Parts: sequence; structure tokens; C-alpha cells
Amino acid sequence: MSSVQISLKGKVAIVTGGRRQLGRAHALRLAECGADVALVDIAHDDDMTFTVQAVEKTGQKALPIVCDVSQKTQLEAMVAQVVEKLGGIDILVNNAGLSSRQTLMNVEEDEWDEIMAVNLKGLVMCTQLAVKQMIKQGRGGSIINLSSSTGLNANVSRGCYGVSKAGVIMATQLLARELGEYNINVNAIAPGFTSTAKIGGRNGQIFRRGPEETDRVLSKLAIKREGEPVDYANMVAFLASDLGAYITGMTIAIDGGFTIR
Ligand SMILES: NC(=O)c1ccc[n+]([C@@H]2O[C@H](COP(=O)([O-])OP(=O)(O)OC[C@H]3O[C@@H](n4cnc5c(N)ncnc54)[C@H](O)[C@@H]3O)[C@@H](O)[C@H]2O)c1
Repeated sequence: MSSVQISLKGKVAIVTGGRRQLGRAHALRLAECGADVALVDIAHDDDMTFTVQAVEKTGQKALPIVCDVSQKTQLEAMVAQVVEKLGGIDILVNNAGLSSRQTLMNVEEDEWDEIMAVNLKGLVMCTQLAVKQMIKQGRGGSIINLSSSTGLNANVSRGCYGVSKAGVIMATQLLARELGEYNINVNAIAPGFTSTAKIGGRNGQIFRRGPEETDRVLSKLAIKREGEPVDYANMVAFLASDLGAYITGMTIAIDGGFTIR
């Protein structure tokens, strides 16, 4: 009996926001499939050390890099370091993101600017720089962007964040059209409600879901459990591999049926 496996042997991946939670899961799954991984994050702390060790346990290389994705000069230095130390770039996972719980009527200018700078500008600038390297290498590549179910469904209490994640969907479509001729596919995933139930905002703020909100959320799902980071990471690895090579410009909701309710 033959079995098909996801193989990323010989590939180099960058995962932004790679030190914890979803970023860690993407990095680990990519490494388990054979890729070396650059873990790019604004902070290098115990979470980063844990992720580096977990990736190294798979036998692949882990390269931690401190970089603010909203700063183009830092992104340039980061990409140069990845190429120098890992030998190239084949996969970019634009995972770094900041959450916000402001409605559009209440969001302040500085919060709007910061959310857009990380979630949208950072994603596009990082893609520009990584793609330059991919084109130079001439062997194609894969970009996977993190949108969110809030980019597909109008959730008033996530106004500013939702606009940024809807922007990720259009950026994904436009980049897919621009980059197809270089054999680079560009897709997004839109996670729903995650078991980790917390996500970072500005100034180190952490948003957590309480038990009542979790019950409300579960009642809206077709599959009655929250998503696990690995549910998303599996799709990232698939899209980055030869198995997903003909998929481009798509946003794949991974949300237990939340979007179709
Ligand atoms: N957790 C969820 O339920 C969920 C749902 C939908 C979408 N998402 C998206 O998935 C991605 C990962 O989310 P998470 O839940 O793991 O959240 P998280 O807050 O744990 O991870 C985000 C990571 O991005 C990093 N980061 C933030 N600003 C940065 C910057 N300027 N430069 C570099 N790194 C920066 C953070 O340090 C953190 O490690 C985000 O884009 C988020 O919007 C998460």
C-alpha cells in the first residue's frame, strides 16, 4: 500500500510571530516535515527558547531572530540573516499579529496604526523581501498568511482587528496573482476559536476568553470543540508542500464550521 506524506525536505521556512502558540505549532509541523525554520519574533524569551528546542528535537535547524515586522529595515536584516545562516527561503508564514477588541467607532488612532502596521504592512513588506530572494533562487515558493474568522464575519467587538484580517484576505489574492508567474503560491488560513483562548494585543496585553464566552462560542460550531494550534499548522504544512502547489489566492477557514453557521 502506498502512502502520501507531506515532505518539506531541504526547504527553509520563516515563521513570523514564531515563538509561541500558533507560530510555534506552524514551526514545529514544518520542521517535522523536514524544513529548517527561522523563528522571527519581537521578543526572545523563555517561549522562544522552548520553541527553538522543540524544533531542534525534530533534527532540523531553528534560527531565532528578534525583529519587529512593522519595521522594514529590521525585516531586511532578518531576511539577510536567514539567507546567510540557512541558505535561502522557500516558505514564509506571515503569522505575527496583534489583536484588538475595539469597535470601529471607538478605536483610537494610535491603536489603529499599530494594528495595521503589524497585521498588514508587516505582512506585505515581509512578503516583498522574502519573495525577492525566492525569485533569485528560481525554484518557486509558498506564502501562507494568517487571517481569521473575524476577517470573514463582521464581529463588531473586533472591528479594527477584523478590518486588518479582511485586508489579509485581499492581500493574499493580489499577491497570488502577482506571484503565480514565479511559481509562488500565496494562501491564507482563517482560524476560528482556539483552545489556547488567549491572544496578544498591544503593549503586552493578553486577551483571554472566559468560560461563558467559550460556551457561547461552542454553541455556534458544527464540530463541538475549539481549534488546536496543530489544526492550523497541518494546513500550513500542506499548503507549503507539493501537495498544495496548485492552490493559490485562497483563504481556508479552519473553524469547526463557524463560518457556515
Ligand atoms: N489564537 C486565535 O484564536 C487566532 C484566531 C484567528 C487568527 N489568529 C491569528 O494567528 C496569528 C497567531 O496568533 P496567536 O493566537 O498565536 O497569538 P499570539 O499573540 O500568541 O502570537 C502572535 C505572535 O506575534 C508576535 N508579534 C506581535 N507583534 C509583532 C511584531 N511587531 N513583530 C514580530 N512579531 C510580533 C508576538 O510576539 C507573538 O509571539 C495572529 O496573526 C492572529 O491574529 C489567531
